Amino acid sequence: MKISDTLSRRGLLMGVAGASVLASCGGGGGGGGSASPGSSSASSSSSTSVSGPTLPDPATAPALKTHFNGKFLVGMTAEPNEINNAISQPVLKTHANSITAENCMKPHAIGTSAGVYNYTLADQVIAFASANNIAVRGHTLLWHSSAPDWFFAGDSTSATYKATVQARLERYITDVATYFKGKVYAWDVVNEPTSDSAGSPYRNSRWYQVLGADYIEIALRAARAADPTVKLFINDYSTENTDKLARLMSIVDTLLTRGVPLDGIGHQLHITTSWPPVANVRAAFQAAETRGLINHVTELDVSLYGSDPGSCFGTPATGCAPSLTEGTAAYWDSIRAQALQYRAMYDLFASQPSVKSVTTWGVADNHTWLSSFPVNRLNHPLLFDTTGKPKSAFWAVVNPTFVP
Ligand code: G3I
Repeated sequence: MKISDTLSRRGLLMGVAGASVLASCGGGGGGGGSASPGSSSASSSSSTSVSGPTLPDPATAPALKTHFNGKFLVGMTAEPNEINNAISQPVLKTHANSITAENCMKPHAIGTSAGVYNYTLADQVIAFASANNIAVRGHTLLWHSSAPDWFFAGDSTSATYKATVQARLERYITDVATYFKGKVYAWDVVNEPTSDSAGSPYRNSRWYQVLGADYIEIALRAARAADPTVKLFINDYSTENTDKLARLMSIVDTLLTRGVPLDGIGHQLHITTSWPPVANVRAAFQAAETRGLINHVTELDVSLYGSDPGSCFGTPATGCAPSLTEGTAAYWDSIRAQALQYRAMYDLFASQPSVKSVTTWGVADNHTWLSSFPVNRLNHPLLFDTTGKPKSAFWAVVNPTFVP
């Protein structure tokens, strides 16, 4: 995949992903499950089943959190559905020492209205984490795709409008960061602020339109004032893209020059079997390191569809690779490529002391947002299969001699 394809893909990605974000948190049930082959936008050309690789006995699988102890925390997303689910709960308890709520700590889930908060689902995630000695990554205090209308209510032409919106933002971040003080070790304070196009580095979000570039500084300062020790992050996608990384770092440099509190960069890393090269991810980590910042990998998954063109992430999505059928030769080819990509990435993570936390965006393949994005089709992007067993990718990560 060309860089420009990926840029286009990611630019369009969030617009689609965020389209229905104002729906209720819902415990994270939506978007889960493996799409059945028949529900995909296109069907596989071959349905002949072949055997997959022979995998080691799952009982011999090392716990990821132990395997990477001393390198980085091993994180997974978990909504209440996943923490109570017979497939994902054992995986979480065995392998994870960090959890990120997939949806229920976002502003649309917590921020009912000005000064009114709903922590019900988030509290369930916190309680599970606490009971199982798992740390919590906060995601997220501010995101253009999860910005309830009440933040922006009022007459936008009035002289006091901008100050009113700023006060609402400061109050929200102050209250939420205070509520979770001591319960989360890091916050994605600002999620996805970077533009996908050349020109201004700033995404032209509602926040940017009302408050200008200052909204990022306002958010970070409010978070720091509320919780002096939590790690503060800007989190974005496509940091592996050279141009996008440059835009993000231009935002970061402005903040650092102004003395704004910022501890690290979150790299989402929604990647594929064919993109990106390791060197691009290393460059993204180094960009943070040279500025004295730490790195978290925040949303890692590896789509089986490395051949999707940029148009697959347009509206409407066109030209997407046809759905794979589980058990076919093509499916196993993708699973093998995925294992090699995961191995390359974790080898890099483990070699970079600045990488302190690595989170997969999901637990096991029974629940992943990629089952319905960019089209409905089978996608198995995680380290554990739909029954919670370690996949080739898992073994490739923990055992350098394993041949996927
Ligand atoms: O729970 C409701 C359900 O009751 C309702 O029937 C259904 C109808 O659409 O919606 C369900 O809520 C959905 C929710 O996921 C729970 O599954 C929302 O519509 C849907 O918009 C929401 O999507 C989430 C998306 O962020 C937007 O918040 C995805 O699960 C989540 O994986 C995705 O995560 C984002 C990161 O936060 C930021 N980076 C990109 C990443 C992927 O888009």
